[in-house]
Amino acid sequence: MTTRTSQGILSEDKAEKREEIIELLAKAYWMEMETVMSYLANSVNPDGVRAQEIRESLAEDIQEELAHAQQFANRIKELYGVVPGSLEFSAEQTFLQPPDEQTDVVHVIKGVIEAETGAIEHYNRIIEAADGVDWVTQDMVIGILHEEEGHRRLFEGFLREYEAEGLA
Ligand SMILES: [Fe+2]
Ligand SMILES: [Fe+2]
Repeated sequence: MTTRTSQGILSEDKAEKREEIIELLAKAYWMEMETVMSYLANSVNPDGVRAQEIRESLAEDIQEELAHAQQFANRIKELYGVVPGSLEFSAEQTFLQPPDEQTDVVHVIKGVIEAETGAIEHYNRIIEAADGVDWVTQDMVIGILHEEEGHRRLFEGFLREYEAEGLA
């Protein structure tokens, strides 16, 4: 009798590795969900002429970050995991709370850069954990990482402008 031995990450002997990856994916899922909340608030709150660009940019990002959360959720299921319920959520983005003054756009820009940096660090971790064992997760997260790097670069450009004028 022959048994199938090689089914990659979905095989029985990879259960432990799957658990590890599912846990990393769940953290990524919550990071995206919190980013959706933070970007939504910050796409509405800021006041002023120059805040408009930031607001519009963040309003666009909401959909992208939500799509990332959906990708992470689907991958959790494909790996035989369960997408966590809302009671398991705990907020971490202290740096993206509303500033004291809603004209403080620099506060928002720096908060976004910090959020994107956190995502970039965590997604690099997942890419390494998946290396050689879970190519599909790795490929998916590389795509998401690419978008986060783009987000961070865009907001670094916004910050540069404020720095050049001595406002940051
Ligand atoms: Fe994202
Ligand atoms: Fe992002």
